[in-house]
Amino acid sequence: MTSGFLETGLAVVIGPTGGIGAAIHALLVRTLGPDRVIGLGRSSDPCLDLLDEHSIEQAAQSLKERGQDIRLIFDATGALTWPGHLLEKSWRALDADAMARSFAINAIGPALIMKHFLPLLPRQGKAVFATLSARVGSIGDNALGGWYSYRASKAALNQLVKCSAIELKRARKDAICIALHPGTVATNLSEDFAKSGLEVQRPEQAAERLLGVIDGLSAADTGTFRDHLGKPIEW
Ligand SMILES: NC(=O)c1ccc[n+]([C@@H]2O[C@H](COP(=O)([O-])OP(=O)(O)OC[C@H]3O[C@@H](n4cnc5c(N)ncnc54)[C@H](OP(=O)(O)O)[C@@H]3O)[C@@H](O)[C@H]2O)c1
Repeated sequence: MTSGFLETGLAVVIGPTGGIGAAIHALLVRTLGPDRVIGLGRSSDPCLDLLDEHSIEQAAQSLKERGQDIRLIFDATGALTWPGHLLEKSWRALDADAMARSFAINAIGPALIMKHFLPLLPRQGKAVFATLSARVGSIGDNALGGWYSYRASKAALNQLVKCSAIELKRARKDAICIALHPGTVATNLSEDFAKSGLEVQRPEQAAERLLGVIDGLSAADTGTFRDHLGKPIEW
């Protein structure tokens, strides 16, 4: 990571307690120093809970009050399963409450983060909002089916990123809003699902790659969906 565009200003990691989020946070702290990296999540002060818009708004307000440029916002939140909810192999397993929760965490929460945090990005110079989507959210790439709620919630996230990128460009022509696929990363989220044959990265390796991709982005890349090697993924 060269951190060219991060020579000044703050980097914010939302979800710094997650497998990938913690590795991103640690790498940024090592590169920029602890004073320039802010972690926001359910156990930070202020707290940010995706299911509570007021907490998202308050967390954004606390950043605004610092009065420093924010050059990077990295949203590393998300959920694949939780107790009582397994990934659906068939439409027979669809459950309205589980679908709503998946959308609340993977799509609506990040949308509310964009609502309150994108206006904090500086009007001049490169600044990046990146959110972790998943390749399985690609409709064009869906050859296997299944995982209905997770796939659909990430597809919704991708559309929300595209809309926000278009709106962001109107007042911040150098800013970038992007969805990233981290690859398969050894975290609590993935441990039951990492298929043999897939490259499974350590969180530290994924963090290096993802921040490397972000480093290399230009304004023309806003509103795209890329993997951890920087390759575009079809929507
Ligand atoms: N790992 C992979 O192989 C893989 C592959 C493709 C895509 N992804 C995507 O990458 C992202 C991160 O994955 P991960 O493997 O690092 O997952 P993880 O270790 O389970 O971390 C999930 C993060 O989301 C946060 N979170 C969940 N619900 C929240 C809420 N209501 N409010 C605020 N924060 C909340 C968690 O915070 P708490 O500590 O408070 O629970 C945690 O920081 C996810 O979007 C996932 O879909 C991962």
